[in-house]
Amino acid sequence: MTSTRQLRLGAFMRPVSIHTSAWRWPGAFPDANFNFAHLKRFAQTLERGKFDAFFMADHLAVMNMPTAALKRSATVTSFDPLTLLPALAAVTDHIGLIATASTTYNEPYHVARKFASLDHISGGRAGWNLVTSQIEDESENFGFDEHLAHAERYERAAEFYEVVTGLWDSWEDGGLLRDKQSGIYMDRDKVHFLDHVGKHFKVKGPLNITRSPQGWPVVAQAGSSEAGRELAARTADVVFTAQTKIDEAQAFYADIKARAARYGRTPDDIKIMPGLTPVLGRTMEEARENYEYLQSLMPDDVALQSLSHISGGLDLTKFPLDGPLPELPPSNAAKARQALVVRTAREGNMTLRQVARHTAAGTGHRVLVGTPQYMADEMEAWLEEEAADGFNVVCNYYPKPFEDFCRLVVPELQRRGIFRTEYEGTTLRENLGLRIPESRYKRHARAGLAKEAS
Ligand SMILES: Cc1cc2nc3c(=O)[nH]c(=O)nc-3n(C[C@H](O)[C@H](O)[C@H](O)COP(=O)(O)O)c2cc1C
Repeated sequence: MTSTRQLRLGAFMRPVSIHTSAWRWPGAFPDANFNFAHLKRFAQTLERGKFDAFFMADHLAVMNMPTAALKRSATVTSFDPLTLLPALAAVTDHIGLIATASTTYNEPYHVARKFASLDHISGGRAGWNLVTSQIEDESENFGFDEHLAHAERYERAAEFYEVVTGLWDSWEDGGLLRDKQSGIYMDRDKVHFLDHVGKHFKVKGPLNITRSPQGWPVVAQAGSSEAGRELAARTADVVFTAQTKIDEAQAFYADIKARAARYGRTPDDIKIMPGLTPVLGRTMEEARENYEYLQSLMPDDVALQSLSHISGGLDLTKFPLDGPLPELPPSNAAKARQALVVRTAREGNMTLRQVARHTAAGTGHRVLVGTPQYMADEMEAWLEEEAADGFNVVCNYYPKPFEDFCRLVVPELQRRGIFRTEYEGTTLRENLGLRIPESRYKRHARAGLAKEAS
């Protein structure tokens, strides 16, 4: 099977590991989250593998608090992405650098400024993973007793996005003249005040950073509920999603592209990238053994905590591990993820222990156990059959799984002509095949001229 459509590849990074216990694997780097030499090696390896982006997760609280199993979980702590990624920009040349930032516990001016800075520093490789915050514990670090309600988080996120992109448009190209002869530093006509007054924010602007190389950094969105899909369709360049079955992934893909069309966008304006957790082996048998060994490192109570943020506040430790997954109250954290886990448990007739272990292995993402050829077959099929435009590779631990992925799977994808052998451009937008957004002021001026002419 050959294809001219090209896969996009991100590496979803939450060093030390995504799998709660894989840090115990022989050869894993259990200090990867706070060791810059390791993180530099990871980014450079991914760049040699021609990945589109180093995509960094983030949470504003120690993850999975408070459970007794916490002391054995490696997914709890990390550097701040917007401090780490500028440092990685200095030791890489091509790979995109996407940081997660919450619209619930940030102010838009801060976010606009930090991402514009990263875009300048990296020469146009910045991306913002816009999240509404998954972890309920974050609220207590920002002066609240409870997490903001799901609907309100999304309402705030929509306005947040308008303010951030409005601020990114503050400066037209050439706004800084820096003319030593005349003594004129800036062209006042090319600077715009936003003067935003809305339900959640009042922001005058302009941003104190000029328009960045990509115009707007790439915007990724990772929410799959009804509200999440609607926001993604209107705003996102990249959609990161957890999908485990091809038919459901196809339905999601078609749904997001159809919603995007309603906002006047083309299917190519928005790239759908489901997560994928690879467990590789030279043979299928070796891959399965690797998976079994990985799972044997994980105690049941540690696995159970991976369900805590979608349990809707229900204490799952009170239920028998070999009984069924109990009815869950609605989650205020991640509605789409809760629905996915419940569906997986019911369809597979899984016990609570089984569903917890399954979820902990890939945080709900599709776990692909097999040879490089098998993995390439599956990825190619999802690309061909419009279930995905690419994948976010969610490795269990670091660095072996993604080093193996770059060494064994990437060449297989390249042989099939569905993945680049060289970066196409210098910016993340160019590599992803995305247009530079037109500034709203230019658009308004164009619309005004057209009106005058008619
Ligand atoms: C694949 C994926 C990755 C996510 N990564 C993060 C993250 O790193 N930090 C975070 O706070 N929320 C993260 N989220 C949460 C979402 O942004 C969103 O706030 C949450 O899923 C609730 O929205 P939903 O019900 O629309 O899915 C992620 C969600 C998905 C689907």
